[in-house]
Amino acid sequence: MHTPDLFADERPDAGLREPLGAQAVVLRAYALPMLPGLWHTLQQLTAASPFRIMQTAGGRHMSAALSSCGSLGWVSDTFGYRYAARDPHTGQPWPAMPQELLQLGRQAAAEAGFAAFTPDTCLINRYLPGARMGLHQDRHERDFRQPIVSVSLGLPAVFQFGGLTRDAAVQRVPLFHGDVVVWGGVDRMRFHGVLPVKPGQHPLLGAQRINLTLRQAG
Ligand code: SIN
Ligand code: FE2
Repeated sequence: MHTPDLFADERPDAGLREPLGAQAVVLRAYALPMLPGLWHTLQQLTAASPFRIMQTAGGRHMSAALSSCGSLGWVSDTFGYRYAARDPHTGQPWPAMPQELLQLGRQAAAEAGFAAFTPDTCLINRYLPGARMGLHQDRHERDFRQPIVSVSLGLPAVFQFGGLTRDAAVQRVPLFHGDVVVWGGVDRMRFHGVLPVKPGQHPLLGAQRINLTLRQAG
């Protein structure tokens, strides 16, 4: 039987809106006009607060490496998951949220129907080939009326978008450089994850995928 290739050379057209739910949408190539400036900004952010492999509450190592910017950053260790005002690695506050990221988050959220979004944190995930993210809910933010804005850069990956319970059916959505996914409202608590990133070379980012997750956490 023929299996559709999720990594077919043809990426969806820029500007396409692909609904994943009543209040969840993929905005194809939405962040592309901000490149390569955004990539330059990210390199500055992760020079100040470097990528690190965090431990899960259960003591396992995550396969994606993480950093953050904004007034809060997401941290994970054997004490559990939470937002913290300081980077535990540097002991310093996280780098400030760059204006361009704030604008990108606000505009993408508005585009998806969420008008009053003011992200105060951006989680920066780095996936080298083979790295993945297991199915989880984003549930450490204070106000679940605020959406999640997720920006994909670099190598493509298959995003898994599930339901409100872990065992619900999962949609598999290939995400490419510049794609933005927004989910909120009735879709805010949907389980999601990322399948292992396949080896490859991206013209701008090289052999990696970077995901930015903008949230209003505090
Ligand atoms: C996340 O849920 O934190 C990351 C999602 C992604 O990498 O696309
Ligand atoms: Fe997440």
